[in-house]
Amino acid sequence: MTDIQTRVKRLTKKYGNKRESLLPILQGLIEDERYLSEFAMKEVARELEISSAEVFGTATFYSFLDTETRGKYVIRVCKTITCAMKGKNQILLTLEDCLKIKVGETTPDKKFTILQTNCLGWCHKAPAMLVNNDVYTELTTEKVRQIIEDYKKREKQQA
Ligand code: FES
Repeated sequence: MTDIQTRVKRLTKKYGNKRESLLPILQGLIEDERYLSEFAMKEVARELEISSAEVFGTATFYSFLDTETRGKYVIRVCKTITCAMKGKNQILLTLEDCLKIKVGETTPDKKFTILQTNCLGWCHKAPAMLVNNDVYTELTTEKVRQIIEDYKKREKQQA
């Protein structure tokens, strides 16, 4: 059994093999691997007895379909309507300024990646973003700067 197969089995055991388990399983795989390979998606489909197209569709919808490895911290800013209306562009600009990269890019030290994603279910507290699995809501430019500073500090302490 490959590493991926073992991981998929472990996650299926943890979250169950129902259709609703798909998202947590994909999130779990991303956490371990930082991206989803085609092989991993096929394995998930096999375990949940659903089509690969369904797994692929979900992964694409949530922009989890990274075909390359990403930074240690993957920032996903919600681009859906409520967040868009509540200033997600300003949030993206602030992130780009703090990290000196553009959306879709990873910092040269491989610590941060900035991406956009679809609605995270926190519209009532828009704008929202994820940093790996942690949700940050009611974002302002100041708040975003502080969040990134905190991550950078944490990284320095660990270095
Ligand atoms: Fe952004 Fe729903 S629109 S969290």
